[in-house]
Amino acid sequence: MPLARNPVKLLKFVFCFHNKAFCLRSPKSRTRGVWLEVRGNSRCRGTTIPATTAAILCVCVCDGRYTRIPLTHPPGRRPPSLERRLFASGGAGRRRGSGPRPVLAMSLYRNSVWFVKGLRHYCRSGYESASKHFVPEDLEVDVTGRHFMVTGGNSGIGKAAAKEIARRGGLVHLVCRNKDRAEEAKKDITTETDNQNVFIHILDMSDPKGIWEFTERFKNEHRLNVLVNNAGCMVNQRELTKDGLEKNFATNTLGTYILTTALLPLLEREDDPRVTTLSAFRGRDMKCSVLFGNPPRDRRTITVSSGGMLVQKLDVSNLQSENVAFDGTMVYAQNKRQQVVMTEQWAKAHPSVHFSSMHPGWADTPAVRSSMPDFYEKMKNRLRTEDQGADTVVWLAVSREAGKQASGQFFQDRQPVPTHLPLAQTKSSPGDEAKLMQFLEELSQKFKPR
Ligand SMILES: NC(=O)c1ccc[n+]([C@@H]2O[C@H](COP(=O)([O-])OP(=O)(O)OC[C@H]3O[C@@H](n4cnc5c(N)ncnc54)[C@H](OP(=O)(O)O)[C@@H]3O)[C@@H](O)[C@H]2O)c1
Repeated sequence: MPLARNPVKLLKFVFCFHNKAFCLRSPKSRTRGVWLEVRGNSRCRGTTIPATTAAILCVCVCDGRYTRIPLTHPPGRRPPSLERRLFASGGAGRRRGSGPRPVLAMSLYRNSVWFVKGLRHYCRSGYESASKHFVPEDLEVDVTGRHFMVTGGNSGIGKAAAKEIARRGGLVHLVCRNKDRAEEAKKDITTETDNQNVFIHILDMSDPKGIWEFTERFKNEHRLNVLVNNAGCMVNQRELTKDGLEKNFATNTLGTYILTTALLPLLEREDDPRVTTLSAFRGRDMKCSVLFGNPPRDRRTITVSSGGMLVQKLDVSNLQSENVAFDGTMVYAQNKRQQVVMTEQWAKAHPSVHFSSMHPGWADTPAVRSSMPDFYEKMKNRLRTEDQGADTVVWLAVSREAGKQASGQFFQDRQPVPTHLPLAQTKSSPGDEAKLMQFLEELSQKFKPR
């Protein structure tokens, strides 16, 4: 039976995707209930729980509210009721003051709808069916003379995007944290594209002071037409940077915020260069001349977010994940929601630059392999290639069509798509959105060299 029509199998997938520590399966010997296994701890015992509880447990874990349910019990003694432990007041990891039932029902809804959506649209098959409607000419452009920056350009989607931009003649700055990996990527890109205008800059995106210093130098020495905020991470344990910042937040949210706001004056300084003629693309002569974008749409910022953000509502009360049990997947999804909100806010505040955020789909990259090994194992035959994941990044960076779209939107497979699931109650108030921007501005200023 297809996964989407088999609730138990689907539940297992959702569950395994969101939390590596648990595994749900229907025991053949039992007709009622779902067998819960806890992996990685020899003292833990399995126990049978009703399917409804399993569903709720699944959602609790997905939401990071019950990541540490104590399932161990002294040998030889009957384990206490799991349901009692789940619903006991102040249960492990539960956020104080939030009644569990409505929150859990909503979480179950969000996660299930999102996962089914992912199976339909985010896999390779989703790309293949969406790509039937792509206009190939959109990417048949020559961007010689235009300057691009791609963070995390040494690997996965960032490297694939940088390569396609270089192939079209763009000058590419790869911003990477590791010199060897960056050199290797540069070599691959220049060899494959025959474009020698690829430059590397070493920068750790979780280091706010380093980003300020880098941008100050960069602004004095270079031009910039398009910034691609691609570097991102999903760190599954709560780790702090040397500045005491939670690492996912520092990299995905604060790092992106500082880099973008610091480079905005450089983007805004760019004239409105028009690419007048499409001369050749891979040896093929193009038939027409086009204007490459109209002001203000030629200066662009693209942020590689994730469809995972759809399960999260912006939460400005706990930006560094201090007060809840830590779940890297959900912290990552919250950061990606923050990126989408930042993009919308920047678009309103800076009309001369074209902003977009996007979801690359589920692509087979080093990050997915290392941060989500269970998900990778289950989905590896269905994942997109890195090039397929990068397609919309490239389209947003170089195509004339992308420049015609309204600024601030969220894209998937070259189309603007909604930033909320229907009925998911993830819409945030304008007040919360303003609070996020104010918080990031104040925090970023603390690290600005005087
Ligand atoms: N693959 C997917 O299915 C998927 C789905 C949704 C969204 N995304 C997003 O796509 C983007 C690219 O990820 P990917 O899947 O292509 O994974 P990837 O191949 O591992 O690329 C991530 C890149 O980010 C860099 N990076 C991470 N932390 C950094 C830091 N502190 N400073 C500088 N660079 C840093 C990595 O550098 P190192 O090589 O040095 O680690 C790497 O170059 C991410 O923002 C990710 O959230 C991916």
